[in-house]
Amino acid sequence: MTIIELRNIYRKGLKLSNNECDFIYKIILKELCSIDPIKIALDPYHLLNQDSQNILIESLNQISKNYPIDYIINKKNFYGYDFYVDENVLIPRPETEELVQWVLEDNANNKSKKLIDLCSGSGCIGITINKENKYMDVTLSDVSEKALDICNKNRINLKSSVKMIKLDLNSNFISQNKYDIIVSNPPYLSPKEANKIGENVKFEPEIALFAPINKPLHFYKKIIEFALINLNKKGQIYLEINPVFIEDFNQLLSDFNLNDVNFRDDFRGKKRLVKVSF
Ligand SMILES: C[S@@+](CC[C@H](N)C(=O)[O-])C[C@H]1O[C@@H](n2cnc3c(N)ncnc32)[C@H](O)[C@@H]1O
Repeated sequence: MTIIELRNIYRKGLKLSNNECDFIYKIILKELCSIDPIKIALDPYHLLNQDSQNILIESLNQISKNYPIDYIINKKNFYGYDFYVDENVLIPRPETEELVQWVLEDNANNKSKKLIDLCSGSGCIGITINKENKYMDVTLSDVSEKALDICNKNRINLKSSVKMIKLDLNSNFISQNKYDIIVSNPPYLSPKEANKIGENVKFEPEIALFAPINKPLHFYKKIIEFALINLNKKGQIYLEINPVFIEDFNQLLSDFNLNDVNFRDDFRGKKRLVKVSF
């Protein structure tokens, strides 16, 4: 089969515009078959070998079932860095880049600080902060050993100096050295929202998506309790939050007498980022 014939099979097989189909086809060609997509235009009758054909057809089948392309190619670009991802971690989101941006903006003064990324998943938040600001002494933490394995892979691939610990937010954790900054994008969907999430999100790990039933703010409460023990005076917490529960979130902060609070909208105009100063 030629490269142009398979391009046409993608156009027929996906319920997307031709441009979108071509975009996906080119990614699979490049990432999984090591074929330069320019060949479609320059050499449209190029014969694909059997391996490439199998990979391209198998990927098309997966994509047509809404399986995320990032898991197929095991890669997601976040803040300019390529992170390895598979079904054991959440695929990093663009709004989380804005959370990273906020931490970096506030700490552009080259002062050495200790930061912990709670619920680190792929490690995208902590590793990016460490890459962008060498003065940040960063620790990644997650309860999932599989996620920590992926953090380690990304730490090595991206030549980062982050440390890693297994940490369950449901346990009482006391660090030997306190942190100056906590940053976290914890599981924040309510299981009641499960039917509203996109088809492709259904392939992501439940442990990364959902808070316990009827406790949408469970992990935020745990993060504040963690901060009360492990955060230095005048430290900050940077969080991604679920805009749906903003009133309850404000109540939670009041319950802990936390009043120095700043919200930021994400690029979709939703109140999704917050900084709490102690
Ligand atoms: C929404 S994902 C965030 C991943 C990553 N920080 C990001 O922004 O892409 C939440 C992460 O929380 C972790 N997690 C779930 N329950 C936890 C717990 N009890 N303690 C610590 N981490 C937990 C999951 O394993 C998952 O990696």
